[in-house]
Amino acid sequence: MDLENIQREAQKAIKNSSNLEELNKVFSKYCSKRGKIGLILKSLKKLSKGERIKIGKQANEAKNLLKSEFNKRTRQLSKEAVNKEESIDVTAPGKKVFLGHLHPLTLVRREVEDIFQKLGFSIIEGPEIESEWYNFDALNIPKDHPARDLWDTLWLKTEKPLLLRTHTSPVQIRYMEKNQPPLRIIVPGRVFRHEATDSSHDIQFYQIEGLMVDKDVSSANFKAVIQEFFNQFFKREIKMRLRPSYFPFTEPSFEIDMACLACNGKGCSACSKTGWMEIIGAGMVHPNVFKNSGLNPKNWQGFAFGMGLDRLAMMKYKIDDIRLLYSGDLRFINQF
Ligand code: PHE
Repeated sequence: MDLENIQREAQKAIKNSSNLEELNKVFSKYCSKRGKIGLILKSLKKLSKGERIKIGKQANEAKNLLKSEFNKRTRQLSKEAVNKEESIDVTAPGKKVFLGHLHPLTLVRREVEDIFQKLGFSIIEGPEIESEWYNFDALNIPKDHPARDLWDTLWLKTEKPLLLRTHTSPVQIRYMEKNQPPLRIIVPGRVFRHEATDSSHDIQFYQIEGLMVDKDVSSANFKAVIQEFFNQFFKREIKMRLRPSYFPFTEPSFEIDMACLACNGKGCSACSKTGWMEIIGAGMVHPNVFKNSGLNPKNWQGFAFGMGLDRLAMMKYKIDDIRLLYSGDLRFINQF
């Protein structure tokens, strides 16, 4: 094939190559040492002097021409490749940014805190690891009380007995040791029990402790505060009742029930057909608790209560298994 034809063929191939890889192959097919033009240049020495000059010149010109066309096409093809990668389809739907949100227990805790703050209560916290003194003795819980049993309390393997607090009540003592009444506090926090889990029990849950102490605080004040709290929290008038009960650190003690929200007090499976839900343990602060906090029980009186935050969340959002709150299951969590 003569040079002119080779050149034309090569020009066409360069133009038609649709990507850089193909283009490189075309180039070496013609212009490399063993390519079609390369071989012609190599065979020049076999020719006569006149021919050698003529064909050598032609071949070099063809090679240079193809080189510049190759470079041009290379630039074109690389630009196309970049454009393809970078092109933005302005009509494509946007990418959704994933936003997290607050856990239902946090939502409920914040709401409870808001309501009590409006009623003049401060928010106080205490340690989750407690001593026997604060968790039991100071709260007038006797040495032989079953709550101290290995089966009820999670003890740490420390020289001095330490435990994961079984309730938020120890913060009553801690706060009164350092602060003189009158006082109004609530104490939200995590508590731990050594027990088998089921739909209404877990080894960890949240409580909100309440404490109000002044010269003459009565159970009537307590009732009014809790009624106001219920109404605001559930955003409607809630029927409630006080029942006599027993706690070593309150005297008298009572349990507060609220009319079951699932059946409006008629009786259903959620409230074991009683129409009532037990929601708060409470009472008037026991004189020994004041004494153990360094206060004179003759000068002060007050009420204390402890309510389950998980129970409140379960009632508010109609959740039927406490374990869902700690499962980390996104199918559950994403509903809030
Ligand atoms: N600490 C008690 C419990 O965990 C609740 C409680 C608190 C009762 C304050 C009376 C006063 O069951």
